[in-house]
Amino acid sequence: MIKVENLVKRYGSVTASNHLNCHFEKGKVTVILGGSGSGKSTLLRQLTGLEKPDSGSVYFEGMDLTTLPKKKIYEIRKKMGMLFQGSALFNYLNIFENIAFPLREHTKIADNVIKTIVTMKLEMVGLRGTENLMPSQLSGGMMKRVGLARAIVMDPKVIFYDEPTSGLDPISTGVIDKLIKDLNRALNITSIVVSHDIESCFRIADNIIILFYGDIIAQGTVEEIRNSEDLRVKQFINGEPEGPIPFTRTDKNYLDEILFD
Ligand SMILES: Nc1ncnc2c1ncn2[C@@H]1O[C@H](COP(=O)(O)OP(=O)(O)OP(=O)(O)O)[C@@H](O)[C@H]1O
Ligand SMILES: [Mg+2]
Repeated sequence: MIKVENLVKRYGSVTASNHLNCHFEKGKVTVILGGSGSGKSTLLRQLTGLEKPDSGSVYFEGMDLTTLPKKKIYEIRKKMGMLFQGSALFNYLNIFENIAFPLREHTKIADNVIKTIVTMKLEMVGLRGTENLMPSQLSGGMMKRVGLARAIVMDPKVIFYDEPTSGLDPISTGVIDKLIKDLNRALNITSIVVSHDIESCFRIADNIIILFYGDIIAQGTVEEIRNSEDLRVKQFINGEPEGPIPFTRTDKNYLDEILFD
């Protein structure tokens, strides 16, 4: 569904994507794992065509997003649903209008049909009856669910989640995890989830990609990652403070120097 080839993105002296090669299987949930600053959001923005890489390619259904004109990317993005880090709801719009927004923006669907669609999506995320509430009246977990309803309102083929459970209590996290998994199955969507929550990752993932300061240090099925003999992967999934993974970029540069120079 999506294939990344030799993707490079630098911000000044920071390499956020360092020659990344990976792919995202159709109909599967792929979790991009990594610590803070490892380049997860940067990769996600490039996957959606929101940001251009310095070099390399991102193929969406065979088309290279990095070479397409803006207009075409805009068209393709209608097939993508996005749940951003923080829910990014419009504070001045009620729940109904928040979810209806993409339909009003991108389609000419009649009001009564919009009403049916929005009601259906709210039902899917378990929030029927909240149409007239304002975002400020919702809990963090509910806001994520509204964000999710908005992300699926255009019936996307792919849905991107940036930290969908950050800041949530364990129960709300479980609810969101289940929703991601259920929606993936029910709608036959390809799901790409950025997370640093290992437990949550193992609950929802079919495939896992582990990023570490701009590098992919492992990718494979949940089984493969669980059974990995790679010390860095073991350290990461066991959350151990001692091990081969250095904790800052400076440490990593230092390690690269002594290892490879
Ligand atoms: N627009 C930008 N301008 C400058 N530097 C950036 C920009 N976006 C990201 N970076 C840098 O690139 C690196 C990767 O950032 P990114 O936001 O992708 O990490 P992340 O894995 O999503 O982290 P987090 O878990 O904290 O959200 C960081 O060092 C960050 O400071
Ligand atoms: Mg991020």
